[in-house]
Amino acid sequence: MRAPRILVTGGAGFIGSHTCVALIAAGYLPVVLDTLVNSDARSLQRVACITGVEPVLVCGDVRDAVALDRVFAAYDVAAVVHLAGLKAVGESMADPVSYYDVNLAGTLALVQAMDRTGVRTLVFSSSATVYGDSQPSPIVESAPYAAVNPYGRTKAMVESMLADLARADARWSIACLRYFNPIGAHESGLLGERPHGPPNNLMPYIAQVAAGQREWLVVHGADYDTVDGTGVRDYVHVMDVARRPGILMANLGTGRGASVLEVVSAFERASGRRIALRIGPRRPGDAPAYWADARGAWQAFGWRARRDLDQMCADSWRWQAANPHGFDDPAPAHASGLPRFQDNTSTSINSKPGHSHA
Ligand code: NAD
Ligand code: UFG
Repeated sequence: MRAPRILVTGGAGFIGSHTCVALIAAGYLPVVLDTLVNSDARSLQRVACITGVEPVLVCGDVRDAVALDRVFAAYDVAAVVHLAGLKAVGESMADPVSYYDVNLAGTLALVQAMDRTGVRTLVFSSSATVYGDSQPSPIVESAPYAAVNPYGRTKAMVESMLADLARADARWSIACLRYFNPIGAHESGLLGERPHGPPNNLMPYIAQVAAGQREWLVVHGADYDTVDGTGVRDYVHVMDVARRPGILMANLGTGRGASVLEVVSAFERASGRRIALRIGPRRPGDAPAYWADARGAWQAFGWRARRDLDQMCADSWRWQAANPHGFDDPAPAHASGLPRFQDNTSTSINSKPGHSHA
């Protein structure tokens, strides 16, 4: 019997590529739809190095209704994991319209295409940013929406749209997984985070400083009312996030917050390198501190984070040290031992050439 196919939008990206590893390990065949605007097709070759299966890649835009119809017509998809989107808080303050376009209009186009094709099982990658900073941590799922930036508002709007849809039509099964701060890398060192351009996020930036590729980390504000004045987040290992059963609304976090300086210290321990840093001003749109009440996911479907901050840093550093140029570095020879199965040839089915967020 053929493994069920799962459409993974944004599947070439950081969380998406690790999700492909987890899906294949769980007996599914991922089909990736991605513009590659913030990722690299070679991440899927690394998925093949780890699992023996290279997911099919369709280069296309989640906002493109014609491309979506073609994907659903070409592949017998059982469910969709929707990760395609823009995710940088600061960029969303400067360019909100792109965020509403990709994150909100993109999800709308996707659910319309799913409805047309009769695939009504969806896992949506939401975010802890939907909560904002108006509630005390740890934050429970019933906390009201109070996003403090356009990125978080796009996620809250999508969640509201999906909740309305599920209420109106009982054929839909939808999970909104509110990731806190996924970091780390696959423990093989073959797969990790490699954003285009200077990293917006803390962990890949620290890793590049440790590797000597950037001179220093700018700490975005050291005057918050937190343990050491720097921002506090709930960092969760990307391979814990990729291990995602169940269909419901859930926080995916560890239940513990760590400040920027605590992450820097943990990374210094893991890498044996000193991380130079400078204190800069606060970054617009940043909340001071939040972390998850992670009991809901445990009670509902037995999920809890297994890996701690030291392991997250060790895995990030293993990836960075082994792949200083990201996916431009060849996969190490030992990785190619597995027999390789390619689901199909990768393809581009955009309805318009060059249809992507620029
Ligand atoms: P990422 O940028 O590595 O992955 C996003 C992927 O979507 C990329 O491969 C990108 O090329 C693709 N993409 C962007 N616009 C697209 C479009 N219009 N059509 C098709 N593909 C498109 O980011 P990530 O960290 O892997 O995040 C994945 C999802 O998880 C995002 O929706 C993000 O908002 C959400 N999320 C991430 C974090 C985090 O800290 N990384 C936290 C909470 C939620
Ligand atoms: N930070 C720095 N310097 C940097 C980068 C970040 O000091 O160069 C600080 C930030 O100010 C913040 C913390 O490190 O206090 C974490 O920042 P990130 O940019 O790594 O992560 P965010 O919390 O801003 O946002 C991330 C993802 C979102 C996601 C959110 C959920 O980018 O997609 O986590 O909590 F929604």
